[in-house]
Amino acid sequence: MSDTLTLRRPDDWHLHLRDGAMLAGVLPETARHFARAIIMPNLVPPVVRGSDAAAYRERILAALPDDMSFEPLMTLYLTEDTDPDDVAASHASGLIKAIKLYPAGATTNSASGVRNFDHVRPVLERMADIGLPLCVHGEVTDSDIDIFDREAVFIDRILDPIRRKTPGLRVVMEHITTQEGVAYAGSGGDDLGATITTHHLVINRNDILVGGIKPHYYCLPVAKREEHRLALRAAATSGDPTYFLGTDSAPHVDALKEHACGCAGCFTATNTMSILAEVFEQDGALDKLERFASLHGPRFYGLPVNDETMVLTKGDPVVYPEKLDTGDGPVTVFDPKMPLHWRVS
Ligand code: DOR
Ligand code: ZN
Repeated sequence: MSDTLTLRRPDDWHLHLRDGAMLAGVLPETARHFARAIIMPNLVPPVVRGSDAAAYRERILAALPDDMSFEPLMTLYLTEDTDPDDVAASHASGLIKAIKLYPAGATTNSASGVRNFDHVRPVLERMADIGLPLCVHGEVTDSDIDIFDREAVFIDRILDPIRRKTPGLRVVMEHITTQEGVAYAGSGGDDLGATITTHHLVINRNDILVGGIKPHYYCLPVAKREEHRLALRAAATSGDPTYFLGTDSAPHVDALKEHACGCAGCFTATNTMSILAEVFEQDGALDKLERFASLHGPRFYGLPVNDETMVLTKGDPVVYPEKLDTGDGPVTVFDPKMPLHWRVS
């Protein structure tokens, strides 16, 4: 088998870059490998209006090292006060590529998210009209629902009713973590896609909890049972265009991860491509990596694939830093607990 793999330069369809010193620290880790990324809007305060997204985009470009090329694809954070006209104008100008829906309280900085889904109907209807995708954090927040069931219940109670009521609405189920998520996304036709993270292909819930709590494996949606991880692996490596890469690389400084109330998020920007190549090789699907990381995302978003290529070569285990030093403090790089043999040349 060849020790070289050439693919179109990949994109990341779900990324947290933060702001300020953290943005400056983590942006090169993504821009080194990825041509574009869908930028999550859950800053404090969130990126709600087009003017917020335009200003954030400028801060990202200002933080980009001169010798790197990278295009941030901006999103807006859906609130119950979001103005459909501002959404439509931001889309028409080319500024934004999606709107992000966080159920209120579901995850990091989601307090301004949606409580009553009827209150966002005018925005959803406008999005269906103009073909603007909705990126969904698909977890209910009801206190009587077990955290491991939040995704499956969200599909039944919230997502499926929204899609039935809003024909033509294009939806990305972000960071799916369950067999139910894989199955629902796969049955939805061309208007439905799903991103899968790097870390959910590697860890299950035992990795978080067995032998002591591992805060750097804690993210949301939380990793599930092994059977769900295997379903995600099968989906990612299947070649089905429904599924594409969204790393959800989500940096938090170690002081906030290794904490009595630790933040959710795995930081995978640094080693994602090496991990994915290892995973796809293990599953006999190296020939499908380009589709997952470089082709299916642009297809869903109606964007051209990248002209540049990325070359991965196989050799001795890749050495990558355990931590990234940022101006805000150290951020631990995701540990896939296996040697990685594919390096980006
Ligand atoms: O683990 C996560 N971290 N999941 C999310 O949905 C948000 C993210 C973050 O912003 O830290
Ligand atoms: Zn995220």
